[in-house]
Order: sequence, then structure tokens, then C-alpha cells
Amino acid sequence: MPETTPTGLTGLAFGGDYNPEQWPESVWHEDVRLMREAGVTMVSVGIFSWALLEPSPGVYDFGWLDRLLDLLHENGIRVDLGTPTVVPPVWFYRKHPEALPVAADGIRYEFGSRGAICHSNADYREAAANITTKLAERYAGHPALAMWHVHNEYGVPVSACYCDSCAAHFRRWLATTYGTVDAVNELWGTAFWGQRYADFEQINPPRVTPTVGNPAQALDYKRFADATMRENFVTERDILHRLTPGVPVTTNFMTALSQCDSVDYWAWGREVDIVTNDHYLITDGRRTHVNLAMAADLTRSVASGSPWLLLEHSTSGINWQPRNPAKAPGQMARNSLAHVARGSDGALFFQWRQSRRGAEKFHSAMLPHGGTETRVWREVVELGASIDSLSPLRGTRTQADVAVLWDWHSWWAQNLQWRPTEDHDARERADSFYEALYDRHLTVDFAHPEADLSRYPLVVVPALYLMTEAAGTNVRAYVENGGTLVVSYFSGIVDEHDAVHEGAYPGPLRDVLGLTVEEFSPLLQGDTVRITGPDGSELTGDVWTEFVVPGDAETVWTYADGLTAGHPAVTRHGLGEGTAWYVSTRLDAHGLDALLGWATEDARIAPRADLPHDVEVVRRTGESGTFLFAINHSPSDVKVPLEAHGTELLTGERAAGRLAVPAGAVRVVRLDG
Ligand code: GLA
Ligand code: ZN
Repeated sequence: MPETTPTGLTGLAFGGDYNPEQWPESVWHEDVRLMREAGVTMVSVGIFSWALLEPSPGVYDFGWLDRLLDLLHENGIRVDLGTPTVVPPVWFYRKHPEALPVAADGIRYEFGSRGAICHSNADYREAAANITTKLAERYAGHPALAMWHVHNEYGVPVSACYCDSCAAHFRRWLATTYGTVDAVNELWGTAFWGQRYADFEQINPPRVTPTVGNPAQALDYKRFADATMRENFVTERDILHRLTPGVPVTTNFMTALSQCDSVDYWAWGREVDIVTNDHYLITDGRRTHVNLAMAADLTRSVASGSPWLLLEHSTSGINWQPRNPAKAPGQMARNSLAHVARGSDGALFFQWRQSRRGAEKFHSAMLPHGGTETRVWREVVELGASIDSLSPLRGTRTQADVAVLWDWHSWWAQNLQWRPTEDHDARERADSFYEALYDRHLTVDFAHPEADLSRYPLVVVPALYLMTEAAGTNVRAYVENGGTLVVSYFSGIVDEHDAVHEGAYPGPLRDVLGLTVEEFSPLLQGDTVRITGPDGSELTGDVWTEFVVPGDAETVWTYADGLTAGHPAVTRHGLGEGTAWYVSTRLDAHGLDALLGWATEDARIAPRADLPHDVEVVRRTGESGTFLFAINHSPSDVKVPLEAHGTELLTGERAAGRLAVPAGAVRVVRLDG
């Protein structure tokens, strides 16, 4: 069995992507000396090195990598070794130009960037397996090797290829998945617009069409493209397992929904030995620390709650957004430690030394262009020491309070064209519900809609448009057995083939919610509706309203104006031992908080009113004890109540009663007992 943590590491991982091939070897010695100064324990190397390792077909040069791994090992730095299969050398493409992927409009991408790969291409598959084999044979038993880093960020920048080999591969995938072409006709609804196929050979990828294409075909193509990338990952992984038994294999995910939308991480999480993630702050005006917490919670959930590893984030600004602000003093440490609080057994960066040339020279690094006389460097050294002092929490698990249902397939389906309104955005609902839970200081696990939910007092379902019958049965049993469920509009509408469930909306949720939805009535841009509540309170909705017809559900809030005036906006349904809430409009932050206030009462979750706004309090627990993180994102000094005495690990001070957390600071208390 492969390990599930980097081998040979006793504490947390700290370091980053190290690309020494961009520098003369004389610089490597300085690198390693400074790595030691910063407390670096692991680096990722070789991710983009295929052209150096195999300069011409079948000719290998491992000398530089041998010297590098030896040097790192002599200095006690563990290595996360990349398989360089995300960028084949130019000679490979000259021999096999059809390995370059084709966009939906038929244009073939060129060499000269990265990630230009058709994952169905047989020559690519063979070459990738070969270089992986050569690397594994070479470094099997090398004492520096801690884990394998396969490829880089599957799914970006090319999420699917539409070439002829992919067309052939897609047909095989359909034949294996559905058996007959008639089954495909049925499930895709090809009777509509005369799209019927007589033979698998007639089916193509969903290339550019005059107007909207078949949605079920588009959804299946997402699944196919994802499965094809996963096949290639599994091939590499199995080679590595065979040749270097025991060494864990990962590939770096990008679970933040804004950073990769083409990969079903529930499925990928089952294939890797250790879940690793890359996370970058998207500075679009929203609260970046909330988005970070959400991505970290999603990553931990994909890892089934086990510790995972933050393999890349940035010390300061990135360089691929329209505007890339630097991080404020202290923000890097808050970011890194927030990932640790939510289950990462370390914090690594892209990259170690800032590049002078190439596309990412304005991306921050641990060692900036300005060298060691810089704020970033001083903060990196300080963070290295902090990470070291947190070693005891390695292997502990973050404690979650509530669950949010999440499914990439539903998200893919919801983002297809020709929906009731383009203003509804599934991710926006997920983000907003998450933010409302965050502001109530509740730690969130994400759960697949068919997963066991019994340990959560509260389960939130933000716009789960695609839901299987099994998912419906699952949430129903959850409520009957005493759970509290909150469902937002446009959930439970279609099955796994984007076909509307039979009968009134929302098919598999009708019984559990005790209502039906007769019609959607999206609002025009900028329009809002007033909603009145039982205590005379008023809320506001926008984007979406519905004609809800209550069955056994009671109406709690009612539309006061608009087309749906007089109809329920929010309902509550007691079922078995539990309660199911439904909200049929897009509530703003105030409305979501009010709704969650009622639902958390039903779920008997005590309010955490004693915790200050924008102060994250998260616990990790395990054999080595309970560790309470308090991360102060606010501009004020705050106090956080402690349930027991303990030792603050970053300062070494004893802590009891009310823990002082200065503005912008992080405190981690190991509780006694
Ligand atoms: C990704 C990649 C890295 C680098 C960073 C920059 O995460 O994996 O190679 O490009 O982005 O933010
Ligand atoms: Zn292709």
C-alpha cells in the first residue's frame, strides 16, 4: 500500500515549486542554503522538464536531476517529483502534430505554451507512459523521493479536445457506457430537432453548431473528457506504484470553482494517494478569505476528511488576473494557516525563486527578484518557523459542523445554455450560502448528494439542479431520521441526463419539501421582490421567483409583490423526525442569514454570537490532541473564548479564558487534556 503522506516528513510540509533549470547550477547552492534558512522541508521539481530530460527521441539526460536530488537530500529537503507529461518537447509535436488539441471550433492549438494535449492521442499516451517509466526506474529508491506529482492541474488550460481521435474515443466511451445507439438516442432526447443517430459512427463531439446543441450530449462530453484525463492519470499512477511501491502519488487539483470547472474531483479524490490542491486568491472584490476557506473545505471533503496538502499558493500577487494586488503584510501567513486549519498538513507555494524570464516573471515567489532584503522574504522565513511549530497537529482532522451538497455534474448541467435566466449562477448560490454559514462561524463539509449525511445536524442544498432519484431518497431519509435540510430554488429539476424528472418540479424533492413548483418566473435584471415574514420582517429577493404550491409544507415567508405575490417564498416542512426548508428566490446575505437562523434553531445548533465577525475559529482533532485556530481577518484586536486551557503554539505562551488575537494575526492553541 502506498503511503498517504509524503514519505520521510515528520512535520508539516513547507516549500514550493522549484524550477532550478531556469538558473545556472551555481545558484542551486544558494537556493538550498536559503531554503534551510526559511525552514523549507519539501519542494516540487521536474514538473515542466521533459524537454531537458529527453532532449531528443529516446535520448535521456538525467545528470542534472541526479545532482539536484542529491543536493536536496544532503540538505534534508524532501522531493515531490513531477512527471513532466503536461509539456511534451517540441520534437514530439513535430513527429505527432495531431497530439495538439483542437478547440470546439475546429482550430488546432500550437506548441509554445503548456498543457497542449489531446488526451485521446495514442502517441501522447505512449510517450507519457515511457517518460514516466524512465523517471520511476531512475529514482526508485532515491532517498530524497517523498512523493510523485503526476502532470500538472489536469483540466486547465484545455478542458476538452474536439479532434477526430477524441471523436472516435467518445464513440467507444458511449458504446461502453450505454451499450446501444438507441439508448443514446433515448437518453439524449435526439427526437427533439431531428437529431436521431442510426450508428455510433454518426456521433461527433459537441463542436460548434449554428445554435444551441444537444444539452445531454454536451453533458456527456464533459464526463467523457474528465474520464479520459483520469485514465491517463491512472496509467501514470500505476506505473509509479509498480516501480516505486509505497511512494504516494498525487496530482495537484484546483478545487476552487473559479479556477477549474472541468474535473469531477469526487472521482479524482478516490484515485490519488494524497489529495493536493493549488489555490490562488481571486481578487474580484469579494472577501478572498471566505473563498479560500471554501476551497480548503471542498479540498478536505474531496479527501474524505483526511489531511491533504496545499501544494501551491502565492506569497503575494499573482500575474494572470486583469489586476493583481500584492498581499498585505501578514496576509500570506493568514492564508497559509487558514489552509492548515482546514486540514492541509503544510503550505507550499508557486514558486521558490521568482523567474527572470518567461510568462510568470511577475508572479510572486518565496524568494523575490529583490532577494532576501524584502518584506516577502522576511514573512516567508517567519512562516517557515510558524509551520515548524505546528508539527504536532500533523494527521489531525478538521471538525465540521454542517454539510453543503455539491456535485460537479450538476454544476456542468446547470451551466449549459438556454436556461430560464442567465442571471442565475450555481456557483454564486454555492458561494453565497457558504459565506452565510461562514459568517455564522460554522465549519462546512461538502458532501456528494448520495453520501451518508447522518452525522450533520444541518445540510444545505444550494441550487442542485441535477439530482438523481438516489440523491432524492438519500436526503429524504436524512430528514426523516432527524436532519434539518435547507434547499434553494432550481434543485432536483433534472436527472443525470439533463431530462426533467417526471411530474411536477422538483421531482425527487417534492415529498421531502412537501410542495410542488408549478412554474419558474425569473425576474428582469435589476428587479427585486419584497417578501414578508411571520414577525412582520421583510426580506428581498432578486433574479428568480417561483409559483410554489404548498402541500403539507407551511408557508413562512410570502411574496408581497411581483407576479408571484401571495405565493410562498420560503416554506418549512416537518417530515419524520426532521425538517425541510425551501427557498424559491435568490435571497441576499441578510435574507440567507435570517433563513439560516431559523434552520439552525431546528437543527439545535447553538449560535456563536460570542465570536467576532471575520474571525475564523476552526478546530483540528486527532491522537495528538485538539488544536484551536483563531484567524483574525478583521482590522481590530479581538478576544476568542477558549473551552479549555492550552498552549499557544506560535508564541509558546499559555492560554486560558479569552484568547487575545491581534488584528490580522493567527493563534493556534493546543488544548490541554
Ligand atoms: C498554477 C500552475 C503553476 C503556476 C501557477 C501560477 O497553479 O500549476 O505552474 O503557473 O499556477 O499561479
Ligand atoms: Zn483530441
